Amino acid sequence: MARVIMEKVYIKQILEEPKIDSDIVVRGWVRTKRQSKNVTFINISDGTTIHTIQAVVEADTVSEEILSKINTGACIEVYGKLIASQGNQKVEVKVEKINVLGEADPEKYPIQPKKHSFEFLREKAHLRPRTNTFGAIFRIRHALSFAIHNYFNDHGFFYLHTPIITGSDAEGAGEMFKVTTLDLKNPPKTENGEIDFKEDFFGKETNLTVSGQLEGELGALALSKIYTFGPTFRAENSNTSRHLAEFWMIEPEMAFYDLVDNMDLAEDFIKYLVKYALENCADDLWFLDARFSDEEKQKPMAERSEMGLIDKLKFVTENDFQRLTYTEAVEILKNAKKKFQFPVDWGTDLQSEHERFLVEKHFKKPVILTHYPKEIKAFYMKEAEDGKTVKAMDVLFPGIGEIIGGSQREDDYEKLKNRAAQVGIEEESIWWYLETRQFGSCPHAGFGLGFERLVLFVTGMGNIRDVIPFPRAPKSADF
Ligand code: 4AD
Ligand code: MG
Repeated sequence: MARVIMEKVYIKQILEEPKIDSDIVVRGWVRTKRQSKNVTFINISDGTTIHTIQAVVEADTVSEEILSKINTGACIEVYGKLIASQGNQKVEVKVEKINVLGEADPEKYPIQPKKHSFEFLREKAHLRPRTNTFGAIFRIRHALSFAIHNYFNDHGFFYLHTPIITGSDAEGAGEMFKVTTLDLKNPPKTENGEIDFKEDFFGKETNLTVSGQLEGELGALALSKIYTFGPTFRAENSNTSRHLAEFWMIEPEMAFYDLVDNMDLAEDFIKYLVKYALENCADDLWFLDARFSDEEKQKPMAERSEMGLIDKLKFVTENDFQRLTYTEAVEILKNAKKKFQFPVDWGTDLQSEHERFLVEKHFKKPVILTHYPKEIKAFYMKEAEDGKTVKAMDVLFPGIGEIIGGSQREDDYEKLKNRAAQVGIEEESIWWYLETRQFGSCPHAGFGLGFERLVLFVTGMGNIRDVIPFPRAPKSADF
């Protein structure tokens, strides 16, 4: 006989479909305990929802010894009846029995029921998911991941698993973490004194991938539409609120797409994701909306966001993104009254202050910049007709700056080979990539969405280290 699985009931379900007067068991972590003479109120969270449930213990139902173990952070199992409540919440639990599953010493438990700084909580990354804010963020992060797979599945894309360990540098920026099993104290050497990677595990130099794109293109040139969604690694020493050393990237790649198709897809995709969050994460977004407004009030008037969090999200779903070329953007920036820290000139890369000016001050909506000078973009981007620019696109978002980077790809074998050589990429590291341009090449395009930048935007948080459970950044890889 098949074993019947006894479904446990979690707080989200209890609150959404309350069965008044039923016997229930609630398990979770104590948020607060309030004791008066005849009654004790215990607030319990199990992380399935932003809401807590209140357990009401009348005098003499639970021993003093057990009550003394029920402190903030302890894990308990409560047996009782679900009853209608006179308080703010619709229901509460009238307690019959409590088991303490795991105590938490109130002198030592670091997460107290008060406002902690995010810096402090980053040092407690093993416990911060138990707070309201981080619970909300990680539930939204989950919902967005799910929505990403949904979107691509519904649109005929195949999920392609690209490797984490590679021998190539897709972005050509040289910001890679090495992967090796060689003895660092005593590595094998070649005759001319260099480290002999032939002796290494893979028989060559390898690193953690900075992007799944190159392999993604191989998939698109066979299955038409693919996407990757995996961890990527960058050893760039940028200690900013927008960069991580390990982040997740979503990279769709489509055969027969040109730059305009690529922009249309990026815009539709991101609007779908934001809308999905609005429709499926309402409780968590209301909570974060209030947090966001509190936070904005601390800022000087001129820096405050004109919109609340939820308004900002709706605004993105309801308005077309502004599309313009890099050259047009440079003109706007040169004519701007604002003094920038970094000067703008045709040919230089835009800094975050320029991107944010365009999005937040000039157009006041998301912007897609295209046709960047080829010198400041990756080798694989398709050269435009003018011979100076490439068919690149960056999607820029308020408060974030660049959220998506992508392009139409160079599909001409000679041009691609020459460009790779010009920027110093060795042919032997990408011979397989070049070969796809010799066997059945076709126009194709794709982009990369930085998942944490998306979560940053949707949650209204200010630092990218607060939207990934266990952030990796320079000098920080605990947990
Ligand atoms: O613009 P990037 O470097 O583009 C690529 O890697 C392409 N191969 C993508 C493609 O066309 N398939 O990175 C894409 C996005 C950026 O727009 C940004 O959102 C995010 O990845 N990103 C980072 N996110 C967090 N920390 C970092 N260090 C990031 N670097 C890039
Ligand atoms: Mg980029």
